[in-house]
This record gives sequence, C-alpha cells and structure tokens, in this order.
Amino acid sequence: MTPHNEAKLGEIAKTVIMPGDPNRVKFIVDNFLDNTKLVNQVRGILAYTGTYKGKEVTVMASGMGMPSMGIYATELFNVYDVDKIIRIGTCGALKADISVESIILAKEAYTTSNYAHSLTGTETNIIAASTELNNKILEIAKKSNLDIMLATVNTSDIFYTEYIDETIEKNNCEVVEMETFALLFLANHFNKEATSILTVSDNLITKEELSAEERETKLHKAIVLALETL
Ligand code: HPA
Repeated sequence: MTPHNEAKLGEIAKTVIMPGDPNRVKFIVDNFLDNTKLVNQVRGILAYTGTYKGKEVTVMASGMGMPSMGIYATELFNVYDVDKIIRIGTCGALKADISVESIILAKEAYTTSNYAHSLTGTETNIIAASTELNNKILEIAKKSNLDIMLATVNTSDIFYTEYIDETIEKNNCEVVEMETFALLFLANHFNKEATSILTVSDNLITKEELSAEERETKLHKAIVLALETL
C-alpha cells in the first residue's frame, strides 16, 4: 500500500499505539491483545491489529528518531486514515528530581531541529499534544492511582549529544527523547490526535538508569495506560 507499509486499507485500526521498538510491539501483542493479525513487516517494522477488551487497536513500531516516526505517522494519518496515535517510549530526565521509572505524559514537544520547516516552511519549534487524549489518559491514571507527570518534552535528533542547547532549558524541557515532536506536528498538520506516554529510562543529571532488561519490563504501566484509552 505504501513503500513502507504492506497493510491493506482497512487492516489498520483507528487508534494506533506506537512503541519505537518492534520487539516491544511483539511483547504487547503477546501479552495484552486478542485476535491479532500481523499486517506489516516491511523493514521489520512490525504492525499487528487486534483487540484489547473487545476494542480494535493496531500496535506498530515507529523506529528511532523523527525521520522514521515521520514516515510511519504520515502514512498512518494520511493513507490509512488513522484518527489517533499514542507513542509509548522511553525518555531521559533533564531534571535531577525526576527518577527513573517515572511516567511522563507529553504536554508539548520542543525541538531544535528543522523538522517543521522542512515539512511546511514554517518556523514552529514547539507543538502541543492532544488535550482530549491527555485528559483521558490523566483521568485513567487518576482512577488507577498511577502517578503521571505532564511535561515538556525535548525531541532531539542526536542521542549522543555533547552539550545541551540553552533554548532547551529556556523552554523548560523536563525530559528528552527523539520522536514526539514529529508525531505531534504531523497530528496537528493532518487534523488528527496524538500524544506520548514516556517512561523515564535514565536521568542525564544523576546518571541513574534502567538496565536493558528493566527497559523491557518496566513499561507495563505505560502500555496499560495507552490501551485503556481505547
Ligand atoms: N536521549 C534521547 N533519547 C532518549 C534518551 C536520551 O537520553 N533516553 C531515552 N531516550
């Protein structure tokens, strides 16, 4: 159907949950979903459509970084007519008092990249998440006594950075990851809804971090939170 997605029209649900990692897609499908069908495996970017508590959902990997997220999110919104995308991923904390395992809900994303300019010629560097989706997620978190923090996310193009740009601090970014700005900008561009639920995997100030194994297992809460919005 597209150069990157072999799912047929109608095989992708109206809501898509997007981890970065295809292994995590498989983990979610095996542990949380029923009636699953593999609908894409081009480039190993697995997508399965199934049901959670009877409601249809697609779980699809985004890959790492804005260029990868941008390709898949554009096609999901624009070709497959998806209404909502919820990214579930990890992030690094930029403040000493945000501990690993904390769950962050993106209020907005800031970036120093020229993603928006390259796409539309506009100078946007900050973009809000869907308030409707966020309110729903906050309500579910409250009902299940789950601590969740609304935060400004810095979406970086570079994992191994050597300095933190002063505008990142000026814009009060509390965490850093690599995909949310592109997702929110595209949702806005196509008049759709999106947000990110991020688990803190490392703290850039205190150097506290989750192990590779913990990164796999500590994401349960974020997965359930995303699935309960359906
Ligand atoms: N930088 C960028 N992306 C990330 C990080 C980080 O420190 N941690 C988790 N995702």
